[in-house]
Amino acid sequence: MKPLRSILTLIPLACGDGGGSSGADGALFDALSMPRTPTVALDDFASAEDCGVCHATHYAEWVGSGHAYAMIDPVFRAFVAVRQENYGGKQDKFCLQCHTPIGTRGGDIEPGFAFADLQAISLEGVTCESCHKVASLVRPYNSGHVLDPEGPMRGTIPAPQVSSFHESQFSPLHGTAEFCAGCHDLREVSGLELERPYAEWQKSPAAAAGVQCQDCHMPRYQGQAVAGGPTRTLHRHTWVGAGVPLLDGFLDPDEEASLRAEVERLLGSAARVSIATAPSVRAGDVVDLSITVENHISAHNFPTGSTFNRQVWLEVVVRDGDGRVVFATGTLDERGEPGGSVGAGTAAAPGLLALGSVLVDARGERVLFPWRAARHVSNAIEPLGERVFELRVPTASTDRGPLSVEARVLFRAFSPTALRALGLDEYVARLEIHEVSRSRASVELGAP
Ligand code: HEC
Ligand code: HEC
Ligand code: HEC
Ligand code: HEC
Ligand code: HEC
Repeated sequence: MKPLRSILTLIPLACGDGGGSSGADGALFDALSMPRTPTVALDDFASAEDCGVCHATHYAEWVGSGHAYAMIDPVFRAFVAVRQENYGGKQDKFCLQCHTPIGTRGGDIEPGFAFADLQAISLEGVTCESCHKVASLVRPYNSGHVLDPEGPMRGTIPAPQVSSFHESQFSPLHGTAEFCAGCHDLREVSGLELERPYAEWQKSPAAAAGVQCQDCHMPRYQGQAVAGGPTRTLHRHTWVGAGVPLLDGFLDPDEEASLRAEVERLLGSAARVSIATAPSVRAGDVVDLSITVENHISAHNFPTGSTFNRQVWLEVVVRDGDGRVVFATGTLDERGEPGGSVGAGTAAAPGLLALGSVLVDARGERVLFPWRAARHVSNAIEPLGERVFELRVPTASTDRGPLSVEARVLFRAFSPTALRALGLDEYVARLEIHEVSRSRASVELGAP
């Protein structure tokens, strides 16, 4: 008997134009975000620290955010090292165009570059002026912003006070999802869509209601943008998502604990799992479980972003009246990967009930590196949508009722196997599994 049946609606993501062309030297370039020769001068940009002198709160929040981490992130660096090797450095600008738009446009990122040799402003990653010197958006993906270093500081305060350090200008663009799309939607050179929260948002109930990315990821509060300035509605610069930096020491222990709590809270609001089943079965019969996962996010899929790196799955464990496991899927195996299974009385292992996405090459084999992928196949749940998994649990191995069923939606930022493949073994112990949602049910066992 087949112990488990799952409804997997695997959706291949569309292909578009990844942008960029190769010159005579074989190096990939693009006039906007991967120019052959610098289009801006690195010296024209101020360090975030300079901004912090007046905007202390914005600086303190940014410096612990994923945006400040974008160029020192060891996982990013490990991926880039492999790509450098694979293309002999000729595509180096591709991965750097969003992680350091200033460094890439300013000529710091040359074929074969080394992180250790970069200018400080490049290592600041997505620093203040990579957002506040954005004048317009050319395309809603692949670093589609136009940077204007000589221009005013742009933001959403309609009539800002005069500052001695910079001119200011009201920019409606900065209050919209399009602004984030410039970096958050990513297409490979091949055109394969890798990350697409904005494309998901465009068709979402949130977009129809005018809810922007900033409403959830840059929550509003009342305060002063500068000491002694007027009290205004301001926006948090923490950009809490699903990740906690793996690099030890990037955050101090208190900051890390509070970020973990914020991530837990955000993930806890993302999805809900529920179990439908008969209240009782005769001992020896099969228990039919219908497990539903609802995406509670109105704005994008669950999960979203770099879903091919993330692990999101359903764990289901059924115990008998003595607490013995009679059925399990999604528990961890000896490598620490979800897949462990117990199918009472049967050798057939239930497949993993995954909610993320996978990259596969032309032969259909799963691959870690996006540039080796031919297809991106996703089982993520659309905004406010749901996914139903049907499971058939045999009870022949026990007559001790009642059966207790527990279902959990679990999230982990990276797979330990992937980190080991990247040579990042030292970070495996820092990976955490977050419980997004949990549900329980009980089934009586009647006389056979
Ligand atoms: C279009 C802009 C863009 C480009 C180009 C880009 N990235 Fe990213 N990258 C992002 C964004 C945005 C995130 C955060 C997404 C998320 O957390 O879901 C990210 C996250 C990552 C992460 C996960 C970081 C973590 O610690 O969670 C890795 C690894 C990464 N990128 C590697 C790469 C590599 C390798 C390339 C080149 C193939 C690349 N990126 C090109 C925008 C980009
Ligand atoms: C000498 C103090 C000072 C420094 C340094 C400074 N600013 Fe400002 N900034 C101000 C003042 C004053 C305002 C107006 C605040 C208000 O009206 O509430 C302002 C406003 C802003 C705004 C809002 C503009 C708008 O119209 O919405 C942004 C964005 C901004 N600054 C970014 C930066 C960045 C980025 C840096 C660093 C490159 C920086 N500032 C450095 C004083 C400063
Ligand atoms: C209604 C609130 C809401 C809005 C609006 C929203 N998000 Fe999210 N976002 C969430 C929640 C909840 C999570 C955590 C669950 C997850 O990772 O899918 C999240 C996670 C993320 C992540 C981290 C994903 C990962 O695994 O690394 C990124 C990146 C992201 N959102 C980008 C965006 C962008 C870009 C927009 C606008 C197009 C946006 N979000 C709009 C609620 C929202
Ligand atoms: C990833 C892009 C991004 C980065 C990096 C960034 N900001 Fe902002 N900032 C924004 C956006 C977007 C808004 C407006 C949000 C809205 O209106 O919804 C904003 C608003 C502001 C404002 C106006 C007051 C407020 O809170 O709305 C100030 C001042 C500001 N930022 C300063 C800074 C400083 C200083 C840094 C670096 C330490 C920085 N920002 C880094 C995107 C960014
Ligand atoms: C200039 C490019 C750029 C812009 C503009 C930008 N981001 Fe990001 N963002 C990134 C990169 C790159 C990362 C991943 C850094 C890393 O972890 O290596 C990131 C990470 C994040 C994360 C953390 C994801 C996680 O896994 O925890 C959130 C949330 C986020 N961005 C939201 C936003 C929102 C909302 C906006 C628009 C207001 C925005 N970003 C604009 C480049 C950008």
